[in-house]
Amino acid sequence: MLNLPWEKSKALQQRAYKVMPLGVNSNFRFWGEGITPYMQSAKGAYLWDADGNKYIDYRMGFGPIILGHAYDEVNEKVKTEIDLGTLSAMTYELEIETAEKFVKMCPGVEMIRFACSGTEATMHAIRVARAYTGRERIIKFEGMYHGFHDYTLWSTYAPTEAYGSCGNPISVPSSSGIPRQLSELITTLPFNNPDVFEKTLKSIGEQVAAIIVEPCMGNCGAILPVKNFLQFIRKQCDKYGIVMILDEVKTGFRVANGGAQEYYHIKPDLATYAKAFANGYPLAAFGGKKDIMSIIGHGVAQGGTFTNNKPGVAAAWATLTILDREPVIKTIEKRGKRLMDGIGNIFKESGIPFCMNGYPAMFSFAIGVEEVRDQRTWNESEKDYYLALIEAMIGRGVMPDHDAREPWFLCYSHSEADIDTTLDVVRGAVKVVKR
Ligand SMILES: Cc1ncc(COP(=O)(O)O)c(C=O)c1O
Repeated sequence: MLNLPWEKSKALQQRAYKVMPLGVNSNFRFWGEGITPYMQSAKGAYLWDADGNKYIDYRMGFGPIILGHAYDEVNEKVKTEIDLGTLSAMTYELEIETAEKFVKMCPGVEMIRFACSGTEATMHAIRVARAYTGRERIIKFEGMYHGFHDYTLWSTYAPTEAYGSCGNPISVPSSSGIPRQLSELITTLPFNNPDVFEKTLKSIGEQVAAIIVEPCMGNCGAILPVKNFLQFIRKQCDKYGIVMILDEVKTGFRVANGGAQEYYHIKPDLATYAKAFANGYPLAAFGGKKDIMSIIGHGVAQGGTFTNNKPGVAAAWATLTILDREPVIKTIEKRGKRLMDGIGNIFKESGIPFCMNGYPAMFSFAIGVEEVRDQRTWNESEKDYYLALIEAMIGRGVMPDHDAREPWFLCYSHSEADIDTTLDVVRGAVKVVKR
């Protein structure tokens, strides 16, 4: 249990309880009574909490920070642009330029529309897919998360028993308040299981508008797709006339400049983005094939007051410019790989069974298991031990997320020295936390 000198955080939590449910503005930010840090500032790879404690940050705001917190060049562009007006409810040239940069970097994206959050981006993509196919059912995978709207907030996180058998899974709503009737529009399947996937499509393939899939399980320990699984989804989508939506909200502009599409050489029909391309400012996007995107505005509704918010667009413009100009992803890859390997070696030396998952820019490890393929197998890992280790690291100034599902994220500002310090901290945590 975290026992840190967080007196100001504790006081802020008591104050926040009075005006915000759980004292936070997103359920995921609540770690518990007296153990929820409140923040003061962030710069580069570091965070300072309200009590002034400094951490090497591996949460990166749940992934958006790809360059570093408060990155000077991005902030300068935002400051310049907001002085020219933040919102006009009309289109700026800056937006067009940003869209052009975006399309140039993402191989499968011919046209895009901006949105404000990943939730909105996936919601819009699903509507477009339904309009394009004239069908209504959506397939998603257990343990994947596509935002807070009711259409896909199913089977994101539940005990394995709740999911029923692998061959005939039960779709579990992830919140009260989701209309039961929507269960008729969703099918949830275990990830990385081509047999169950193929069998399901044989029975309902012609009713399915879209399959939405994260390239890796970015909301469940960064489990990678087994070889050719994404390609198999692609082929089956073609066979049944289903729109393939690749949810790149976490992988976009993080695993490669062109995201998982570039990494796996795969072209979905639509893809969704929100995080890294604006380095922490609020901007999202969805895009894909021209013939699908072109139906927007021709009987298909999409829009929003803040979809071209100037701070978001300016930040995206600057972030894409830097990603294109500098070896951001390569640098992160090199440092992330050293961190992954180093953590793996510490576990090996300590005789702790584990499996390492994900990419250097976004990885995690599951303890006590040799392999994880989906949320069901991941549920068998030692999550209490993982949490105890993480808490020991936080107490020593290294902050991954408190939830084992959330990957460790790196950014361009993490230095070699930060990796060394982190490995020392991990070694120290492994020494004191007994399995
Ligand atoms: C893969 C994926 N899709 C969609 C979302 C929702 O994005 P947002 O929080 O911006 O609504 C998330 C958020 O973490 C995500 O990881």
